[in-house]
Amino acid sequence: MKIDPWSSSAYNDYARLRDEFGIEEFNFPDLPNPHRLFRRGVIFGHRGFNPIMDAIRFKKPWCILTGLAPSGHMHIGHKMVIDQVIYYQSLGAEIFLAVADIEALGVRGISLEQGRKIAVEHYITNYIALGLKPENCQIYFQSKRETVKDLAYLTGNKVNLSEMRAIYGFEDSTNMTHVYAPLVQVGDILHVQLEKYGGPKPTLVPVGVDQDPHLRLTRNLAFSFRIFNVTLTKDNKIGIFVKPDENVNELLDEAERIIKKLGFADYRKIANYKAIYLDGATTSDIPKLDEALIPIEQQFGGYGFFPPASTYHQFMSGLTGGKMSSSEPESSIFLSDSPEDGVKKVMSAKTGGGVTLEEHKASGGRPDECTIFELFLYHFIDDDKELDRIYNDCKSGSRVCGACKKLASEVVSAFLSDLAKNRELAKKNIDQYLRDD
Ligand code: TRP
Repeated sequence: MKIDPWSSSAYNDYARLRDEFGIEEFNFPDLPNPHRLFRRGVIFGHRGFNPIMDAIRFKKPWCILTGLAPSGHMHIGHKMVIDQVIYYQSLGAEIFLAVADIEALGVRGISLEQGRKIAVEHYITNYIALGLKPENCQIYFQSKRETVKDLAYLTGNKVNLSEMRAIYGFEDSTNMTHVYAPLVQVGDILHVQLEKYGGPKPTLVPVGVDQDPHLRLTRNLAFSFRIFNVTLTKDNKIGIFVKPDENVNELLDEAERIIKKLGFADYRKIANYKAIYLDGATTSDIPKLDEALIPIEQQFGGYGFFPPASTYHQFMSGLTGGKMSSSEPESSIFLSDSPEDGVKKVMSAKTGGGVTLEEHKASGGRPDECTIFELFLYHFIDDDKELDRIYNDCKSGSRVCGACKKLASEVVSAFLSDLAKNRELAKKNIDQYLRDD
């Protein structure tokens, strides 16, 4: 299996994706007031979410960084990320949103001006209309943020073309802006930990699983800038290793001071190995050690990035059955669709109903294969009991497709007309969100 962020392939075996790529199952029952996307397992996987859960629990500073590619119009599949962002904002996260105008240029040939226009009209206005708040939130354009571009060059220096090709499968004909786009995304994800943006902090990147290659690259590059490597050794001890050859003794002394302060008494410092071995520690102590060591790295001129965490959501199917895609208008409900168009798309959507009414009533429907049921599950029915009832009644055959389509038409049309109203208000407030520096 291969994950290609720029292909239009559909993913359906999420458990297999997790296994093959070492993505962990998302299982955090302690999340406060979990949004339906969490309650229903739509967020199916993560990398490194534990420190985020800690930050939420102990009210420590943390942030969200995610991005949008301004090509095509925003549809309800895109809405999932912003739903999560708004939820995390309510939990106290600082929010950074990247408009990937450089990526849209490199990958889709969309000019920076066009990208800006699409982002503002079709994405940002909708984000605000959906409830994103301006406090502690900034939206920026890749092409305008020097720190992001600097980091692209800096991190680009630690990865070579053949590694990039192994990850992304670039061809000889791939244009260089496209080749650079993943490094700009690395810049997006890491720049929030620079002093100018508040310094090192746990960062969460909520995305669709197609973005995982970027996250793997970013986590590797973040690590390559670390001064300390805290890891499980072959003989099952936790070791703190100094990676560079300069200031080794000073760094070990600082690390020793830290581990004593954290209460570890059983350790051996071996300067020749540039290491401290902690006899009593386990892998669960690693995040705590990293968190304490990262500030020292800054004093010694390092970057000390926390490895960015990520979560992955499943994709909605298109209304016509395949993938939901902006390039196939019938497959998606766009947030700028008129209520009438929304209803039309609902009425012609593929369902999991029986071939005839008699058959449906006799053998039941297949809600798991129904795009209308997906609309309810992802977006339009928040009450878990009501959703369960619809699911069971469909399965048993007592609820027919007509009833679901009628309900879906009502909720979709109300949603689209409210949203259009909210957008008018939102347009006036856009400047409160945009930050170019
Ligand atoms: N590549 C993402 C997309 O195609 C957009 C993006 C740019 C992004 N920078 C990001 C996503 C940083 C997450 C984090 O949708």
